Amino acid sequence: MGGVIVSDGVAGDARRHELAGRRGAEPERTIGTVSGGVAGARPVRDADGAAEPVVSARGLTRVFRTAAGEVRACDGVDLHAYAGELVVIRGRSGSGKTTLLGLLGGLDRPTAGEVRVHGRNLAELSDEQVSELRRGTLGYVFQSFGLLPMLSAAENVEVPLRALRTPAEERDARVAEVLEMVGLAGHERQRPYELSGGQQQRVALARALAPRPEILLADEPTGQLDSETAARVLDLIGELVDSQRIAAIVTTHFPPLMQRATRLLAMHDGHLTPDDGTDAALASHGRHAVVG
Ligand SMILES: Nc1ncnc2c1ncn2[C@@H]1O[C@H](COP(=O)(O)OP(=O)(O)O)[C@@H](O)[C@H]1O
Ligand SMILES: [Mg+2]
Repeated sequence: MGGVIVSDGVAGDARRHELAGRRGAEPERTIGTVSGGVAGARPVRDADGAAEPVVSARGLTRVFRTAAGEVRACDGVDLHAYAGELVVIRGRSGSGKTTLLGLLGGLDRPTAGEVRVHGRNLAELSDEQVSELRRGTLGYVFQSFGLLPMLSAAENVEVPLRALRTPAEERDARVAEVLEMVGLAGHERQRPYELSGGQQQRVALARALAPRPEILLADEPTGQLDSETAARVLDLIGELVDSQRIAAIVTTHFPPLMQRATRLLAMHDGHLTPDDGTDAALASHGRHAVVG
């Protein structure tokens, strides 16, 4: 199995240290509580820019063929993210954000172009290797939380660790650790319906973080939350990116996270462009998403 595929937390740590060593410039922060790592520094990459992005896309294109014609949901997207970087993507509904995150996360395959994780092209990995990657290296958070209703908060967080066959003792310790990280210590036994929307999303975040992913993909993670709760969840994501040295790609419209972003991008009709925070950045460039 190649070096990219991380099948358990221990290998994940080894990989992080290897990367940290290669980055050289900045000592790795201790993995622990959120408050441990919220220094203002924007780490990201070597001064000489030599570090390799954790995830990158080049010419990424996904065309859907529908009765109405072709939809170029993702159209020639170039993108990369380094460890400790928070890339925020804005875009109107239908602009292609979910399609892009699905491609980056190996949930969908591109029509053209490529996604690389640690330099390895996903298209060249076997289905089994991509599955491994999804279980260990990638963490997902969705707008709808996606928690299993019959399981407690702790059991939901445990799901990916079970999939990774993490030993029970280590699993319990990690579940407690990530629930603490997201501020939910004491809520372990509650089921999703006994938790508020913000708490449910924090459980989903804890679940995504449990396997120590190197990449966090969050698709409108605050879409169902009121603005105060949304601010807290997004703040937490920003802190976790800093303290856990994760490369995060998050779609949101929420201004506080936009300010925290190391890079702000706008998606429109499948195209990704730099975002200056104005409405104009979201406007279509006159191209039609539906052709034919
Ligand atoms: N499985 C699919 N089949 C056909 N069209 C799709 C599919 N998924 C997405 N699309 C289309 O691709 C475009 C981008 O969708 P999406 O990525 O969901 O955008 P966003 O997340 O920004 O709202 C839309 O026009 C949508 O209808
Ligand atoms: Mg979407």
